[in-house]
Parts: sequence; C-alpha cells; structure tokens
Amino acid sequence: MSSDHYFSASPASADERRTISVELNGRARKIQTAAGIFSPSGLDKGTEVLLKYVPTPRGRILDIGCGWGPITITAAEQSPESRVYGVDVNERSIELARLNAQNLGLDNVVVGRPESVDPELEFDTIWSNPPIRIGKDALHELLLQWLPRLAPGGEAWMVVQKNLGSDSLQKWLVAQLPGDWNVTREATAKAFRVLKVSRPAR
Ligand SMILES: C[S@@+](CC[C@H](N)C(=O)[O-])C[C@H]1O[C@@H](n2cnc3c(N)ncnc32)[C@H](O)[C@@H]1O
Repeated sequence: MSSDHYFSASPASADERRTISVELNGRARKIQTAAGIFSPSGLDKGTEVLLKYVPTPRGRILDIGCGWGPITITAAEQSPESRVYGVDVNERSIELARLNAQNLGLDNVVVGRPESVDPELEFDTIWSNPPIRIGKDALHELLLQWLPRLAPGGEAWMVVQKNLGSDSLQKWLVAQLPGDWNVTREATAKAFRVLKVSRPAR
C-alpha cells in the first residue's frame, strides 16, 4: 500500500485545492477539497446514508474522523446552539474542514487533532463515518477511546459498510460497552448499515 492513505497524518500528494459542489442539508454548497484526504470528489455514499437517517443532533457533538467536514458541517447547521467538535489525524483534512466550516459562516465548529479535545469533555451526540480501513484493532481502539465519552442519555450514530464488517462490529460493541447501553441497527441502505449506540440517561 502507498504511504499516502486518506488517514496519513501528512499526505505526500500535492495539496492542490479544488472546489466541488455537494448537497448538504438540502442545499448546494461549494466545498474545498484536495488529494490525500477521504472522498475528495464528493459526498461519500456511506456519509450520505448516515446523514439521511440521523435525527437532529443536540448538545455537545463529536464527529470522529471529520475529513473535509460533511458531517461536522451538517451537525453544526442543524444545531446552531451546539458546539461541534470535528477530529481527524490527517492535517490536510483538518485544514479543509476548518476552511469549509468558516466559508459557510459556521462559528460553532471546532476542528482539530483528537488530542486537542479536552479529555474531560463528554458528548451528547456522536456522529461518525469511522475509518474502517485503518484495520480492526486500530478501529476498536478508536471507538473505545470515544464511545465511553457519551454523556448519560447520549447517542452515537455510525455508518459502516456491510461487507466491511458492520454486523461483527455491532456484536463487538455489545460485548465491549456497559450492559445497560444499547447497540441497535437503525437502517440498512445501499451497502451500508447505520448503527446507534445509546447510553441510558441517569
Ligand atoms: C471514512 S473517513 C470519513 C470522513 C468524513 N467524515 C466524511 O464523511 O467524508 C474517516 C476519517 O477518519 C480519519 N481518521 C483515521 N484515523 C483516525 C483517528 N485515529 N482519529 C480520528 N480520525 C481518524 C481519516 O483521516 C478520515 O478522514
């Protein structure tokens, strides 16, 4: 495999910016992308499925692996009184997600590396199209880093391609998370499943 994955910290490819048109929250947008990040040509199909099924987010919101920002932007627009934290390890994605949120006039978005988020912060809503391609162990570590930070009554919504292990991931989540948390399959569309993790309210 080339060292320039979409999840490389510093992509080796030239950072040539391009403007694409995508529909987010039912409106056409001009978005900046570049090579070396995830889905630079448009809205990923999995992300599209996730955004179709999630309810309006609330409270403190986290997008794990924000890429150029489609999930972060959608959440920030749908819930203007919330603060949305978009995290990524790919520096180019971080820059672009920041820029795209700024160009859309969103001032409730904070984008950065995972370690830039206050470790004490809990989240009422987590939305993610997680980086399955980093490998099972790394993915599990990532999910165990963030999902336990759901606040009481919080919900995490994730989209996973069926043939990339959505059903086994669901079973693994049930086994890993506390017994009173729920892991449900909320939708199956195209080649994807949308999973929801709910932490009971106190
Ligand atoms: C499937 S892509 C989704 C990107 C974007 N949310 C979208 O929907 O287009 C997953 C993202 O996770 C990022 N990523 C990989 N490892 C990560 C990690 N350990 N922590 C945070 N983000 C990570 C990748 O760089 C990539 O941008």
